[in-house]
Parts: sequence; C-alpha cells; structure tokens
Amino acid sequence: MPFKTIIEPFRIKTVEPIRHTTRTEREQALKEAGYNLFLLKAKDVLIDLLTDSGTGAMSSAQWAGMMQGDESYAGADSFYRFEAAACEITGFKHIIPTHQGRAAERILFGSTLKPGHIVPNNTHFDTTRANVEYRQATALDIPIAEGRQPQLQHPFKGNIDLAALEQVITENPGQVPLAMITVTNNSGGGQPVSMANIRAANEICHRHDVPLFLDACRFAENAWFIKTREEGYADRTPLEIAQEMFSYVAGCTMSAKKDGLANIGGFLALNDDDLAQRCKNMLILTEGFPTYGGLAGYDLEAIAVGLHEVLDEDYLRYRIRSVAYLGDILTREGIPIVQPPGGHAIYIDAKAMLPHIPQSEYPAWALSLVLYLEGGIRSVEIGSVMFGQQPDGSEKPAAMELVRLAFPRRVYTQSHVDYLAEVLVYVNKLRDRIRGVAIVDAPSILRHFTARLAPAYNELIGG
Ligand SMILES: Cc1ncc(COP(=O)(O)O)c(C=O)c1O
Repeated sequence: MPFKTIIEPFRIKTVEPIRHTTRTEREQALKEAGYNLFLLKAKDVLIDLLTDSGTGAMSSAQWAGMMQGDESYAGADSFYRFEAAACEITGFKHIIPTHQGRAAERILFGSTLKPGHIVPNNTHFDTTRANVEYRQATALDIPIAEGRQPQLQHPFKGNIDLAALEQVITENPGQVPLAMITVTNNSGGGQPVSMANIRAANEICHRHDVPLFLDACRFAENAWFIKTREEGYADRTPLEIAQEMFSYVAGCTMSAKKDGLANIGGFLALNDDDLAQRCKNMLILTEGFPTYGGLAGYDLEAIAVGLHEVLDEDYLRYRIRSVAYLGDILTREGIPIVQPPGGHAIYIDAKAMLPHIPQSEYPAWALSLVLYLEGGIRSVEIGSVMFGQQPDGSEKPAAMELVRLAFPRRVYTQSHVDYLAEVLVYVNKLRDRIRGVAIVDAPSILRHFTARLAPAYNELIGG
C-alpha cells in the first residue's frame, strides 16, 4: 500500500457521549472523592484510562453472537462455541470457563499450591500475587534485569530471567509445583515476552518436571510483538504465533476482559486430566457448572467471537500503533515514560518527571490527580500508594513511581489521543509547581482503592 496512515479498522455504529466538565467542577469532584481517582463518578471523567480490563467496545458480530446465547444450565451450545474458539488458539484439552481471570488463578493455585511453595513468574500481576500468597506460598518475580530499568530500550523487556528460573527450581526441589510467564508483562510496563524465552523457559521446566503456565491475558498483543520484533516470525499469522506460544506450556489462566475483547469472563485451560478434574470440582463449588463457570451463555458467545477478532492483523497493527503513537509524542516532548511503549498502556515515570516530590509524598499519585484536574483524564498510580504499605504496617517506597494510562480496546480515536497528548504536554510545563499529597485515611490492605488523601501543602499546584 502506498499509504502510511494506520486507521482505526472499524467504523462507529453506536456512540456513548462523554461529558466535558469545568476545572472548578473537577476540583470539587476531586475533593468529594478524597483525592482518589478510584472514588470519582465515571460520568465526571472525560477520557477514562484507569484500565484496559473489561472496558473495550464490542463489535456488531459480538452483539449479534450474544443474541444466540444458550442459557441452558448444562451443555449449552454457547459453551461449545466458546470451547472451540479457546481450543483452536491454545490447543488445550480442558477449557474451564470462569467469571474473570482471578477466578482461574484462585482455582489453579487452590488445586496445586501448599504452604511454603514457590511460584516463579516474570512479574506477578497483583491478583496473581495475592492468590499465590493466599495459599501461603511465595510469588517470586524474576524478570530480566533490563525489565527493571524504565528508560532502557529492549525488544522483549517482559522476558523471564532463565538463569534465575533454573536456580530457583534446582535450589528448592519439590517446592516449585508450577512456574508462570505473564504475556505481556502488565506490572512490568506491558512489555512482551519473546518466543525464544517461552521456549527456553519450557525446556528448563520440562527438564525438572515443573509445569509451565502462561498468564495469557494479552496473548494476542504479545503475538503481534513477536511477529514484528522477533526474527523468523514476520510471515506467520498472529494465530499461528499464538498457537506456538501455547504449544510450549502446560496450561494458562486467561482474563477475557483483555484479549477476549469481552466486558467480563475468563478461563483456565490445561492438558492434565487429573488436575483438570480437581479444578472442575473447585469450579462447581464457587463459580458454577463446568459448561458455564459463572458466566451467562451470552458472555460465552461474546468471548468466542472476541477471541477470533483479537487476532485480526489490522486490529493488532492499529492497537499497538495507537499506544506507540502517544509514546512517540511524549518521547519527543521529553516526558519520561517506560520505554519502549507497551502493548496496552503508556507508563509515565513520575519519579523522573517530578524529582522535587519525595516518594513519601507520592509523586505518581500527585501527577495522576493533576492530569484529572487539568484535562479530565483518569489514569492509575502504580507506585508507593499502591505498593508502599508493608504487611507489618510500615512504609517502604516502591521501586518505581509510575502513572499508567491504559487504553480500552476500540474505544478512543486518534483525536482523543491527540487531546491526551496536549494535556500531558501542558501538565509537563507545570511540573515544577506540582505538589505532593498525603494519606489522610487508608485501610490496612489494598489501600489504593479506597484511601482518602489530601494535597500535602493545601493545593495540588503551587504558585
Ligand atoms: C496480567 C494480568 N493477570 C491477571 C489479571 C486478572 O484478571 P481479572 O481482572 O479478569 O480478574 C489481570 C487484570 O488486569 C492482568 O492484567
């Protein structure tokens, strides 16, 4: 094609108005929400980048599929369509539906982990970590060293450290019942994992008889990075690449709220008959019968269609490019971000942008509040408010102070992103005047969801 512009590969059939508010209204909304963006009313947000999970737009084919939802308690047609779609991509024998990803995690870990066990992973997502720790096991993060340096360029920063993987397995015989790789690595900046890394991790695990699982939430985005960055994959389809990724592992957990292009749902998939039976027994206890797993028949239909659509090359090209597009503008403007841009989000390095705010005054949280105040944008802090509180109640600064701007799938257009870039550039010019924040009141666990904060010096932006 002689044209370079990558367009949104869809036209818009249904619209949902978004509402401009005034700066004074946003100031008031922040006050009422205790300076916590989780506590805002969504109607007061102009562009909502809190998460890419379950927030995507479904296609007309998905809505049409939902009308075919078979709501039979057992053996519904919808289940078989869902199972066929998941099976075509993953190749696993047992596809167990769950209401979302963390339910798949809870069931897998509930069936495999005992106190004292260790689960290595490139980086555990918070719910994955919490579900491992709930079994009194250790969730061990072993990304490659490059993955911990925000500004460093590397094509596959999500890779797991293979030497560390081998070491933890050999030094703890019988204590590592499974290993995981998260694709893409959400907590590590949405960074991809190479095929070579998955293959090599499998060889290590196989040699030690340890099953390797994928946390596959963003498997299609990862497949696209392999296609465009790893030698030998340029001519392979995203489906073929995904199939190869899954061929190296014993099973996966999946949140269909990401690369299932659905608003709810997930699954656990694996080959081991005995483990599958134990997982299904647990599923019946808390989620539902194994042919619906806590989902409506119409949810299963939406996922079946979504799993197919997410591997479309035009979609993936647009998806990855729309995140990189914002990354390019911010990099040009000298705004520090995790490099290179990830698959589903841009992560602003607030520690680098606001060096005058000590970590004890939560620079990333402060920045996220100013983005809302000035532009009506909702982001999420991934820093010391989220991770600083230790189990004994003490405070330890997080390794990084990031503001994540997560892109819902097929929701915003290029002009939304241009607006976003304008707000970020504007806020960057104010950066020396941005003040820190203090925690006024917080629960003892997962405090970021409900904590109340206040500007440390009476105002978010000083004179
Ligand atoms: C990498 C990763 N794993 C697991 C989950 C949990 O999925 P869910 O929110 O559907 O429970 C998420 C959700 O954001 C995720 O990003």
